[in-house]
Amino acid sequence: MKNNHSQKTTQSQKNIVVLVSGSGSNLQAILDACDSNMIDASVKAVFSNKAEAFGLERAKNAGVAARSVNPKDFDSREAFDHELMIQIDTYQPDLIVLAGYMRILSSEFVRHYAGKMVNIHPSLLPKYPGLHTHQRAIDAKDKEHGTSVHFVTEELDGGPVILQAKVPVFEDDDAELLAGRVLTQEHAIYPMVCKWFAEDRLSMVDGQAVLDGKVLGKHGYAEE
Ligand code: GAR
Repeated sequence: MKNNHSQKTTQSQKNIVVLVSGSGSNLQAILDACDSNMIDASVKAVFSNKAEAFGLERAKNAGVAARSVNPKDFDSREAFDHELMIQIDTYQPDLIVLAGYMRILSSEFVRHYAGKMVNIHPSLLPKYPGLHTHQRAIDAKDKEHGTSVHFVTEELDGGPVILQAKVPVFEDDDAELLAGRVLTQEHAIYPMVCKWFAEDRLSMVDGQAVLDGKVLGKHGYAEE
């Protein structure tokens, strides 16, 4: 079994735990960036609420622990999240990365990881929180669309934005085409944010994202 991650772990290196529900292409970008030492951190485990998520295969292929926890085994969202939290914490994570994790999080879970949990959302937040963001951008005849990495707070897709990337919307786009264009950008910006966090350059202070000592604006770094 290939396990480059554990081999290069040093004491100061941050531990990342990634949560996925699907394909895990963002997870792959982060695994690759750790492997190439772009991110000075190590993905310790990947969790999914879906046993069949391809992201779990990606984890196994990288020699990373792959765990699935089935929400149907629990009576409530709170009970599921509590168990997930206990399992995640055995990996002593410094950073929790939500990478296409398609579940609403309980308050306890969000509070437990406050300031150390990030999410990627496929829209230029605060536009289009929630689902079907690509179709909504097309329906609104938006000329540009994109993706946002943000700290997770109790407001759905509402935490402070760290970094966004924009893509054009073309007249003959459908949601799938647009989603692909957005994904390409996601694979660039999500590892970048993980890198900043791993280097202790990024934090959440009083509900705001702070990079290199500067409070980031509504659209994160590189605000126009
Ligand atoms: C990504 O586009 C991500 O922004 C989106 O799911 C996709 C996951 O792709 N996340 C959300 O919609 C969260 N609300 P991936 O599994 O290939 O990384």
